[in-house]
Amino acid sequence: MSTFFHLKSYLNHWLDVVDEHSIHSPFFFDFYNKVVKGKTDPALFEEIEKTRERLLKNQSVISIKDLGAKSPHFKSDKRPINQVAATSLNDIDQCAFFYRMARYMESKRIVELGTSMGITSLYLSKIEGAKLFTFEGNSDLINIALTNFESLDQKNIELIEGNIDHTLPEFLQNPAKIDFALIDANHRYEPTLKYFNWLSMRMADQSVIVIDDIYYSEEMGRAWSELKKHELVYGSIDLFRCGILFFDLALNKQHFIWSN
Ligand SMILES: C[S@@+](CC[C@H](N)C(=O)[O-])C[C@H]1O[C@@H](n2cnc3c(N)ncnc32)[C@H](O)[C@@H]1O
Repeated sequence: MSTFFHLKSYLNHWLDVVDEHSIHSPFFFDFYNKVVKGKTDPALFEEIEKTRERLLKNQSVISIKDLGAKSPHFKSDKRPINQVAATSLNDIDQCAFFYRMARYMESKRIVELGTSMGITSLYLSKIEGAKLFTFEGNSDLINIALTNFESLDQKNIELIEGNIDHTLPEFLQNPAKIDFALIDANHRYEPTLKYFNWLSMRMADQSVIVIDDIYYSEEMGRAWSELKKHELVYGSIDLFRCGILFFDLALNKQHFIWSN
């Protein structure tokens, strides 16, 4: 991660942030209040957070290869579970935010690129009537995620194993439309654009793609600034930690910079 780029982007973001008084679109006004500033009952996620706590205490060492951008936190492939959990998982607020967003969009078919140990997956799988397809390429992480899904008896998750470069095109052979997709793997320019373009062919009319860590590095910043101008994107929200891209034609190319 480029610390200088991250810091500079953070300052710029705060200078550009607007609040709900500048939102004239009824859709975005509602989305801001219910999703971005909304609250979710933490009791719903109690068991998932207990699972996270167990991971944060587990000092066993697993083997992880960086299939995407190199981790700034580890020099070796041998990594303690607690340190991986502390550095690569979305935190409780971000997970609850993704849950609220996917629920608000009435998502039935959800895709997550980058399962890791399955914490965000478990949040997304709480959406009633939804099926989650989550993609991961590291076998030690796959085993941990599958154990977590099983111990929480979450049956609406399918974990697709292997390198996303190969597994995603195969998955997308199925013409079924996707309502919500989270790109949280391979934080580099070229793969981010490639995954977006592949997914965009299967997105439903009122769907969203969320890109995590849009200011992780200069190349992610470049990917974000290109994607929000993409011809299929009809609205975008920059929340600094992630960017949201809307496919609904009715949104009329509106772009916002908010804080959450
Ligand atoms: C930031 S973590 C995901 C965190 C997870 N969404 C959460 O918050 O619970 C990114 C994951 O993507 C996986 N990944 C990165 N590039 C990949 C690729 N090309 N194919 C498969 N998995 C990949 C990594 O192994 C890592 O576990």
